[in-house]
Amino acid sequence: MTPRVLLATISLLSPAACAPFGPAADPDDPAYGRALYEENCVVCHGSGGAGDGELASSLNQKPADLRTIAARNGGVFDKNKVMSAIFAADKNIARTMPEFGDQDLGDIIIVEHGGLGTPVYVDLLALANYLEGIQE
Ligand code: HEC
Repeated sequence: MTPRVLLATISLLSPAACAPFGPAADPDDPAYGRALYEENCVVCHGSGGAGDGELASSLNQKPADLRTIAARNGGVFDKNKVMSAIFAADKNIARTMPEFGDQDLGDIIIVEHGGLGTPVYVDLLALANYLEGIQE
């Protein structure tokens, strides 16, 4: 077996290759973040993130426009705050949006920032990275 064939065989056996559908869990891959977004968020926030999903008009609070998170925060996309909002980390805030912290958010990975390693769920980070990419 040549090395190339061997590599191909190994990648076929990897768990990602066994997933029934969708891209592998890479938090920096916009396609992965987009797939999570479509599965969990489009129904309220809409395909482009404007807050115009098909459920939006039946909610007691309008879903946020996810394209303007940074613009509404002095031009800064606060990724930790966004992840906290998706997870529903602050239990004191009454919400219309579901708590995604109750759901399967994938593996925990260590993100290094300023020399410190912080554990974070891979799907939570992928969603926040995706939203960062749609800021106006
Ligand atoms: C059932 C409808 C619904 C679903 C599904 C939903 N949201 Fe929301 N979202 C809302 C509403 C309504 C708000 C406004 C604040 C609130 O009620 O919590 C909001 C607020 C937010 C905010 C805060 C935005 C800001 O400006 O501070 C973020 C970030 C967010 N949603 C991301 C997501 C992501 C990512 C998903 C999918 C994983 C998702 N939402 C799924 C309804 C929803």
